[in-house]
Amino acid sequence: MKRPVVIIGNWKMHKTIGESLAFVKHLAPKVEKSSTVIGLAVPFTALHATAKLVKELKANIKVGAQNMNDNPSGAFTGEVSVSMLQEAGADFVILGHSERRHLFHESNAMINQKVTLALEAGLLPILCVGEKLEERDQKETVLKEQLYGSLEGLTTAQVKQLMLAYEPVWAIGTGVVAHPDDAEAAHRHLRELLAKKWGKEIAASMVIQYGGSVKPENSADLLAKEDVDGLLVGGASLSADSFSEIINQG
Ligand code: PGA
Repeated sequence: MKRPVVIIGNWKMHKTIGESLAFVKHLAPKVEKSSTVIGLAVPFTALHATAKLVKELKANIKVGAQNMNDNPSGAFTGEVSVSMLQEAGADFVILGHSERRHLFHESNAMINQKVTLALEAGLLPILCVGEKLEERDQKETVLKEQLYGSLEGLTTAQVKQLMLAYEPVWAIGTGVVAHPDDAEAAHRHLRELLAKKWGKEIAASMVIQYGGSVKPENSADLLAKEDVDGLLVGGASLSADSFSEIINQG
């Protein structure tokens, strides 16, 4: 099955509104001929202005958020809801990123709630899963727990509407990228897990991005792998030059 190539930049806690707008103006002409699905996961504060600019420029860039709360609304000081993201112009939301799981102690049950809310609202969730360095020996068990735990109770029709990102924690921000064969093996394993629970069709159509120390120098080898459908790029997405270099290999 032919799956789209999806390359998303995850800016984490980087870029003000002004910096985000300058970035989009710089990136848009560099990628205007690309057939890759391009996305920027920007900080909450920059979401509205960035989404508005992308629309005005008619740029082929999607804009999304990096997180949201697991409740639709309520007394949760400092939090942001799914409807707020949608009104601000988000096309997608990253959920279950390892920094959320490990620094902010998000459980699979909480992520499951967030994925469900995003799907019910019609916002595309990109669910991240990945093992820590000390879990490498039990990688398959960890991926199974995270995948099934985060997607618990979802129907086949719902699972069809999301995307996955495999991000081994030991590769994030370390400069140690996964070997393309290892990324491929993990993506295949995720497809097997999907097939077991939701059927072969879902497994074959699911877009699975790889993330963790992706750079222009290693992105082509990763994308060449059959089951690697895209990339989730942190550090190298902060410069429009390096990010467009990665996209234009896609
Ligand atoms: P990195 O981050 O590319 O800086 O390793 C990837 C991510 O956390 O999504």
